[in-house]
Amino acid sequence: MRSVTRDNITDAFAGYFGPKTDPRLRFLMVKLAQHLHDFARETGLTHDEWRKGMEVLRQAGDITTDERNEFVLLSDILGLSSLIDMLHSPQNGTSSSVLGPFHIAGAPPLPVGGDLKGDFAGEVVLVEGTVRDPSGSPIPGAELDVWQTAPNGLYSSQDPEQATYSFHGLLTTGSDGRYAFTTVRPVPYTVPTDGPAGELLNATGRHPWRPSHLHFIVKALGFRTLVTEVFPDDDPYLDQDTVFGVRDDLIMHYEPQPAGSFPEGFALSGKVDEAWSKVAFDLTLIRED
Ligand code: BEZ
Ligand code: FE
Repeated sequence: MRSVTRDNITDAFAGYFGPKTDPRLRFLMVKLAQHLHDFARETGLTHDEWRKGMEVLRQAGDITTDERNEFVLLSDILGLSSLIDMLHSPQNGTSSSVLGPFHIAGAPPLPVGGDLKGDFAGEVVLVEGTVRDPSGSPIPGAELDVWQTAPNGLYSSQDPEQATYSFHGLLTTGSDGRYAFTTVRPVPYTVPTDGPAGELLNATGRHPWRPSHLHFIVKALGFRTLVTEVFPDDDPYLDQDTVFGVRDDLIMHYEPQPAGSFPEGFALSGKVDEAWSKVAFDLTLIRED
């Protein structure tokens, strides 16, 4: 098209595709162009504002490494990652939530009732529950990959002082579908703020905090893998997670337990004299299509 105008440029774009273009790619690109063009038209986007946007992308590229992806973080703080999660989250299973950048593969096996706390200080928290199918039946042999921050607010991959798999474990449910482990409370932490995502948060008067959470990846044969996080109901950032990961069904409660009441059957049994807390949280997987 030679007589391109501000009104027909979107149609011109859609008309430039080759005949062999994958239909889904074509659909996505046309929609992307429609929304980008409408965004520019509706806002009257200036050259300076466009240049600033391009600069944000350049800076994101500069700071991105194999370990750190600033583009994903930008998607997270814009709510795009969480929106995609919600679009594909099961209706009759536990909601999914963002994976985040701190998962490391290869966590060591942790027996049901095992301990993640090790020598770290802090009140013992016993987390337990059952992995179920949508009818409520337990799922035996489900694998739960669990990870969280240490009490200093850092994941092991961010902290040279921690062992590689500190606060990481891989549990497998028995015939009753039950999982259980001991730990300490994860703590709220900030997303990285030293790149353009941090600059954007700052410029828009937003804080970089996430509420404390336990991460889970739950896998079982014949079921859709669930990537999720679970948040305590008393966290100060529960209603303002900077990456929008909180869902109603992902909220847990620390139930205080008196000193001297820690039960048998755990790696820490006989070693916990103080008060402790209990979290009960069941996870529901949906069947694979
Ligand atoms: C996390 O939960 O670990 C996380 C998620 C999104 C951005 C940064 C961290
Ligand atoms: Fe996290």
